[in-house]
Amino acid sequence: MSHFTYQDGVLHAERVPLSRIATEHGTPTYVYSKAQLLENFAGYARPCAGRDALVCYAMKANSNLAILDLLARQGAGFDIVSGGELLRVIAAGGDPGKVIFSGVGKTAAEIALALEKGILCFNVESIPELHRINEVAGRMGKRAPISLRVNPNVDPKTHPYIATGLKASKFGVAFSDALATYRTAAELPHLDVVGIDCHIGSQLLDDAPLLEALDKLIELIDALAAEGIHLHHVDVGGGLGIDYGTGEDSPVPISHYVERVFARVDAWRAEKHGGRPIKVIFEPGRSIVGNTGVLLMSVEFLKPGEEKNFCVVDAAMNDMARPTLYQAWMDVKPVVQRDSSAVTYDLVGPVCESGDWLARDRALAVEPGDVLAMMAAGAYGFTMASNYNTRGRAAEVLVDGDQVHMIRKRENPADLFALETIVKA
Ligand code: LLP
Repeated sequence: MSHFTYQDGVLHAERVPLSRIATEHGTPTYVYSKAQLLENFAGYARPCAGRDALVCYAMKANSNLAILDLLARQGAGFDIVSGGELLRVIAAGGDPGKVIFSGVGKTAAEIALALEKGILCFNVESIPELHRINEVAGRMGKRAPISLRVNPNVDPKTHPYIATGLKASKFGVAFSDALATYRTAAELPHLDVVGIDCHIGSQLLDDAPLLEALDKLIELIDALAAEGIHLHHVDVGGGLGIDYGTGEDSPVPISHYVERVFARVDAWRAEKHGGRPIKVIFEPGRSIVGNTGVLLMSVEFLKPGEEKNFCVVDAAMNDMARPTLYQAWMDVKPVVQRDSSAVTYDLVGPVCESGDWLARDRALAVEPGDVLAMMAAGAYGFTMASNYNTRGRAAEVLVDGDQVHMIRKRENPADLFALETIVKA
């Protein structure tokens, strides 16, 4: 069930009319639903109950402290890709012992910070990275828990920019090199080889490629066990898609996917793994926060053109980069429905780039001053925002029933140049 619904012709987040939020807090503003967030997380957590499993939310999708805090209180761990993200987890009250650290370019300083804070595991992407982690751990008198991100070469059938598990990808260790890389890792004195992971891509509507990748990881776990390298966890990555409202995407429900992962793992453990326990880790991002948020914007002008009609809004590519970056189709709905007949518009922002568009060829009944909502904007929305054109980033609010909480104030222009210095000759 969606927590963004029309009630008497007005789009609401839970019990709050979005028109009220626009009036009280201005636009552009990201609005998140707490109920939707918790429901999505429960889709993972419920089938994990009573099992050795951990849901490490991929916080790159949305890293607002209020969101992290809510998830941490539900028992979530976190998948991070920078020292900055680790500091955010800690600031939100998350447990570093439930953090896994992904990414191809971890610096020595980030590795030291993660070791100092006692993270659960480094997801390692190359041999030079293994050596770097070993060196830093040695210097600190510690042992670093590591997993190898293996590239299972499974086609996730998604947009090339967000497919990550293919041979040509910069991510992970090639499947054919995995055993040799594990042998190298096992010999390094300051590493504990504890797991295996993969992440094949994002916005996957079908779970077949995800399960195929899991099968390949299981194959490697068996081959490693035969050499005396015993792993304690298998991390299946993230990637489950959401319904963006195109009419074509109907993703497999979260809990079905999670249950299918457990069915696979249980069958294998009984048959080949001697019943030995293994922890299962998930790294979902979009499927937890995507449909949790909308981006509110106001119509500034309607501009008829020779070939196209433009609806100029106050949000732009700096607020929401997905359309221009990936040609992503994002649904746009009027907050207050009008009876007048619809006109086909391109929805564009005020940024000085032809690529500054949010939606194309949309039939909308709108007038200047109307508020529109870009739906399913909770993942990779605010976190990918920039200050291009010295535009302050949007405000973020969290709705809980009939309550509205400001969880990030709108940035002022003065905030944007506060770190800059004029050089006086
Ligand atoms: N784990 C790793 C190692 C990842 O690289 C990612 C996402 C995830 C987990 C979470 O994937 P998810 O469950 O959200 O699909 N900005 C793009 C998506 C980039 C995904 C990057 N990696 C977009 O807006 O579509």
